Amino acid sequence: MNSLFGVIEPYAGDPILLLNDLYRDDPRLDKVNLGIGIYVDEEGRIPLLPSVRIASQRFGEQARGYLPMEGHPLYRDLVCRLVLGDRHPAVVEGRVVTVQTLGGTGGISLAADFLAKHCPNRRVYISDPSWENHHGLFQRSGFGTATYPYWDPQTRSLDFDGMTHTLEHASEGSIVVIQPICHNPTGLDLDQRQEALLTKLLLAKRHLVVFDMAYQGFGSGFDDDAGFVRRFAERSVDGGCLIVNSFSKNLALYGERCGGLTVVCRDNDEAERALGQLKQAVRRSYSTPPITASALVTTVLGEPDLFSLWSNEVRHMRERMLTMRRLLAAEIQTLSNAVDTAFLLQQHGMFSFTGYSTAQVARLREEGIYLVGSGRMCVAGLTPDNIRKVAGCFTTIAQSSIA
Ligand code: LMR
Repeated sequence: MNSLFGVIEPYAGDPILLLNDLYRDDPRLDKVNLGIGIYVDEEGRIPLLPSVRIASQRFGEQARGYLPMEGHPLYRDLVCRLVLGDRHPAVVEGRVVTVQTLGGTGGISLAADFLAKHCPNRRVYISDPSWENHHGLFQRSGFGTATYPYWDPQTRSLDFDGMTHTLEHASEGSIVVIQPICHNPTGLDLDQRQEALLTKLLLAKRHLVVFDMAYQGFGSGFDDDAGFVRRFAERSVDGGCLIVNSFSKNLALYGERCGGLTVVCRDNDEAERALGQLKQAVRRSYSTPPITASALVTTVLGEPDLFSLWSNEVRHMRERMLTMRRLLAAEIQTLSNAVDTAFLLQQHGMFSFTGYSTAQVARLREEGIYLVGSGRMCVAGLTPDNIRKVAGCFTTIAQSSIA
């Protein structure tokens, strides 16, 4: 007789997290982690930001009661203001609701559950390529997923025509996942003209938009990076816009799991009902969000001295990543000016899409350099100590016959 769990299929592992385990277990001292999206400092360490350390001291050893299902009220208010700005018309009109989530992943997952219950039987469109987990999160909630073109491998640039063509022909009211800034994995974002055209198309087709804004501050600053979602939320007077944000990267609070889900509705009544449904979804999943994560974020965002310290820390992270891009391109150019490095400077944020094939990525791994199988490189893993090695291996790969 079969055992009760005999039907369970083995899990192949998550491509990004599995890679991180492989990196961790690699005994080589000169290994380089350009896989997982984690920011490290010049010494290769995940920073404990001074703003977070001070926030932790200020919060101190308070009792840890339950938070409300939707999160701490101040957290929700501050997150909403970080995402949409202080005087956003949709906020002033009272048609926005924000809840505390378990990181960005938890925010997408909650958004997917919410949409599955209230807007079922729609197809979810995700950029090709995208963060691998997007498909899984929506499929887990019962949606069928499809892709829209985003990256043109021939030109190594954005395929805006392909993107708009697909979304134009998608059924009215489809769900579209958009990364408004520092696209993972390509590092390519829409310019303002493309953003305006896409916004018009999305509104005309009454598509529901889920913005995944995991890297606010890593593009050019908190407000500029949120420009697309703010403009979109203002124009979507009918609601139908969900914005997920995360503090994993910009506050280096990876393991604390703190993020937010902001839902823009048609009016206050709709927002109240959306909040109720989100509370119920949380209650039936993990009940209430974590209090320490909430306290750290609330203190940094809510206390002016800490907010200003944090803004400088994010600026430093952003500039370090930019410097590493430039340095890598320059190092490669000194080895061979026949190797294309333009993509490094055209793309921005935490990731670059190298265009390397699976075989080339495997070859790099033999040298101890870890990239995601798609050819995605986490620029934030580059440091002054490892950049020469990476430049050397990239140049060799580009000039080799491995395709
Ligand atoms: C990444 O894309 O590497 C990060 O967002 C980490 C993750 O959860 O996949």
